[in-house]
Amino acid sequence: MPNHIIAPSILSANFAQLGNDIEMINKSEADWFHIDVMDGVFVPNISFGFPVMKSLQKLATKTLDVHLMIVQPERYITDFKDAGANILSVHYEACTHLHRTIYAIKEAGMKAGVAINPHTPIDLLKDIIADTDLICMMSVNPGFGGQKFIENTYNKCADLKNFIIQKNSHCFIEIDGGVNEITAPKLLKAGADVLVAGNYVFSSNNPTATIASLKAL
Ligand code: DX5
Ligand code: ZN
Repeated sequence: MPNHIIAPSILSANFAQLGNDIEMINKSEADWFHIDVMDGVFVPNISFGFPVMKSLQKLATKTLDVHLMIVQPERYITDFKDAGANILSVHYEACTHLHRTIYAIKEAGMKAGVAINPHTPIDLLKDIIADTDLICMMSVNPGFGGQKFIENTYNKCADLKNFIIQKNSHCFIEIDGGVNEITAPKLLKAGADVLVAGNYVFSSNNPTATIASLKAL
């Protein structure tokens, strides 16, 4: 039985009919909803905020995995908890006091994730990995769906897996960006636990079947 987690990214959903896409994910073999929040400062794009998240919260029946691509994410921790987040990931590059922010997320009752940009070395996670529930490894530069996968991610993922084992950590590795039928099997082999997929799922003719095919790998 496959035990990896599939997290469709609603960034690529049809926002004019978001309810339909949420229902599709509810009924599919997906495990989580991946929710990308962008502020136009940390990344060169603006996605959506609390009104959309609260609508999602009402309809979604699965874990809400929220990926904050915003500066000063510590300002909004309880707001995201109230908007239904179960997992809250902040960017390493956006946090001056990352340890404090991780503990504030946990104290608010959520799992805490740390997202890293493609240029950020995993060595920098040494003193935080034991406190973190999930590392969201960006396999594209954050900001947009449908970008080209960065090939260095395979080695980086395998290195992080070894690092997590060495540290006796139970942290999940989530890969975000460019996941498809070519990259997904290699990522699972390299130790990925969670695969985020936006464009690959929502641009396919049958998103439910595409999710099932990722789950079956
Ligand atoms: C990018 C986002 C991703 C994005 C993935 O900044 O964090 O979650 O939706 O998109 P795809 O799967 O289309 O590369
Ligand atoms: Zn994301």
